[in-house]
Amino acid sequence: MMMLRYTLACLLIFSFGLTSSSARQAPYSLRISCGARHNVKTPPTYVLWYKDIAYTGGVPANANPPSYITPPLKTLRYFPISEGPNNCYNIVRVPKGHYSVRIFFGIVDQPNFDKEPLFDISIEGTQIYSLKSGWSSHDDQVFAEARVFLMGGTSTICFHSTGHGDPAILSIEILQVDDQAYNFGQGWGEGVILRTATRLTCGTGKPRFDEDYSADRWGGDRFWNPMRSFGEGADSPRSTENTIKKASVSPNFYPEGLYQSALVSTDDQPDLTYSIDVEPNRNYSVWMHFAEIDATVTAEGKRVFDVVINGDTFFEDVDVIKMSGGRYTALVLNATVAVSGRTLTVVFQPKGGGHAIINAIEVFEIITAEFKTLRDEVSALQKMRKALGLPSRFGWNGDPCVPTQHPWSGVDCQLDKNTSRWVIDGLDLDNQGLKGFLPNDISKLKHLQSINLSQNSIHGGMPASLGSITKLEVLDLSYNSFNGSIPETIGELTSLRILNLNGNSFSGKVPAAVGGMLLHRVRFNFTDNAGLCGIPGLPACGAHLSSGAKIGIAFGVSIAFLLLVLCALIWWKRRQNILRAQHIAARGAPYAKKRTNVSHDIQMTRHGHNNNHGQARTAVENGPSLLS
Ligand SMILES: *[C@@H]1O[C@H](CO)[C@@H](O)[C@H](O)[C@H]1NC(C)=O
Ligand SMILES: *[C@@H]1O[C@H](CO)[C@@H](O)[C@H](O)[C@H]1NC(C)=O
Ligand SMILES: *[C@@H]1O[C@H](CO)[C@@H](O)[C@H](O)[C@H]1NC(C)=O
Ligand SMILES: *[C@@H]1O[C@H](CO)[C@@H](O)[C@H](O)[C@H]1NC(C)=O
Ligand SMILES: *[C@@H]1O[C@H](CO)[C@@H](O)[C@H](O)[C@H]1NC(C)=O
Ligand SMILES: *[C@@H]1O[C@H](CO)[C@@H](O)[C@H](O)[C@H]1NC(C)=O
Repeated sequence: MMMLRYTLACLLIFSFGLTSSSARQAPYSLRISCGARHNVKTPPTYVLWYKDIAYTGGVPANANPPSYITPPLKTLRYFPISEGPNNCYNIVRVPKGHYSVRIFFGIVDQPNFDKEPLFDISIEGTQIYSLKSGWSSHDDQVFAEARVFLMGGTSTICFHSTGHGDPAILSIEILQVDDQAYNFGQGWGEGVILRTATRLTCGTGKPRFDEDYSADRWGGDRFWNPMRSFGEGADSPRSTENTIKKASVSPNFYPEGLYQSALVSTDDQPDLTYSIDVEPNRNYSVWMHFAEIDATVTAEGKRVFDVVINGDTFFEDVDVIKMSGGRYTALVLNATVAVSGRTLTVVFQPKGGGHAIINAIEVFEIITAEFKTLRDEVSALQKMRKALGLPSRFGWNGDPCVPTQHPWSGVDCQLDKNTSRWVIDGLDLDNQGLKGFLPNDISKLKHLQSINLSQNSIHGGMPASLGSITKLEVLDLSYNSFNGSIPETIGELTSLRILNLNGNSFSGKVPAAVGGMLLHRVRFNFTDNAGLCGIPGLPACGAHLSSGAKIGIAFGVSIAFLLLVLCALIWWKRRQNILRAQHIAARGAPYAKKRTNVSHDIQMTRHGHNNNHGQARTAVENGPSLLS
């Protein structure tokens, strides 16, 4: 049950397979009312919000809606820091495709709660947004929204604590959009996320969702923040009830109503200027909407303007009637802008004494999706979390390595450029009060170079599978309650530099491969164990000889005894031979006579050469002594 707690921190399983493969069908949509115990339908459209079947993780509470554009939901879910810094919704069976994901934030309806928690949000491992203080007083900041490509299967949305209150979530919407939605040309693709920075409808005071405009569902139910004016006396609003042509077309299905209002510059202020604060050194995608709805501009050439963004002219001589094909016809232009400063400024500069017009503006931050962690390694870590009994404060939810701003604590990551996957190269779980055991699954973390589990209360054996982590350089299991013997396989760790097994209850002989082969290049510590033996510095293994060793010793002793007997036998035989030879010589037997002849010949040589051969003499003189 404990394990379940940790695994399923705010896990959601929705098992309905509403899918859609073509734009003709209804798009997939899932709306979750966080903290709700029952499905909810909200006026005025009676859209359905599903209850969130959270097994654990987070706390349901009553919500205080921060803004009137917030969906009228009564509950939220918040995540106290005791549940760890990373809390996720895992939403299963989302079909592969392009989505608009929107998260409304909430404020817990209790007096002692932070009125405005600040936290980070990630989708599928990519951080898309950090809440800014003051969010609850701006309509377009009470939610975060991004266009993302989802690979199909389980989709993960996480909330990361930053130390400013408990993340509190009112709702999550996952709405399918066209596969080509917001295709900005070069660089656009599955690995690109578009986070909505702002979305304005100009010349009207009414905030609107696509839904309020009765727009096509493939548009993703966008929220359009009203922009009555870009500045005092700078512009004047226009509006029309006329039908707008080419508005709700693939891939973005803009609502027709969006083009029925606009802002037009004045004689006082011919340029229309719009500025927003942005994060520096990011790329932005700017989408501008035009329709000639001004009754006084009736033909091509009457209204011509340039579009200048941060000083660069992106579109020259924009003539809406000419480019859209007529009056009351939608025109959409998009520009990709690299912004180094903190402001993005769009200026519509009229030519020839005319006025500029703008109906709507959208600005997206272009975010490159993070690579994910190798799937096998994620599941190995999850098994380890259970086996080691890791407390939830570790925040092992979502992806271990990404977002890179919020990796799991105790885990070191490295990007494998070949596979474009993150891998785990270090585990630092020393001194964390862990009481579980080390599972065999640790060997699935093939890229580990360092493991430090020192100073915990981990019990049980040392998994033999550790020997297959070929890159392992540091293995520190010191000061735990490991028992049993050191597996032979540890000897296969050819990269090992440090092996600390001291302060455990290991017993038995240190395997020869560990004690011997590694002796020279590995710094190790085997002291303070129950009964380790067999290498210098540890007790001798005598008292605990293995049966193999016993057989070996018995065999050795027998061989030595046999050799001794053999030697004795040879000595005795030789002695017998000598004695018999002396006996035969004394009786002038042919064998002895021959020997005497040899002796004699040499003596003759000696005499014949007149003492010039000292060596020969010596030999001869020694000769007979050999026989005696
Ligand atoms: C956005 O602009 C790019 C480059 O200017 C263009 O290739 C692309 O078709 C435009 N997208 C849409 C949907 O108009
Ligand atoms: C912005 O786009 C350029 C060109 O595509 C790219 O080289 C750069 O890395 C991008 N910058 C960021 C912050 O994504
Ligand atoms: C990555 O690929 C290069 C060449 O393609 C190869 O030399 C290298 O060993 C690979 N690295 C890994 C970690 O597989
Ligand atoms: C492992 O962690 C312990 C406790 O924090 C530390 O003393 C030790 O130096 C670490 N071991 C290695 C090999 O770095
Ligand atoms: C190791 O300790 C566990 C209890 O933690 C015990 O069940 C097991 O038998 C011990 N193994 C050895 C080899 O002593
Ligand atoms: C080995 O561990 C013991 C305690 O278990 C410690 O006293 C000793 O200093 C360690 N030796 C080395 C070389 O680190």
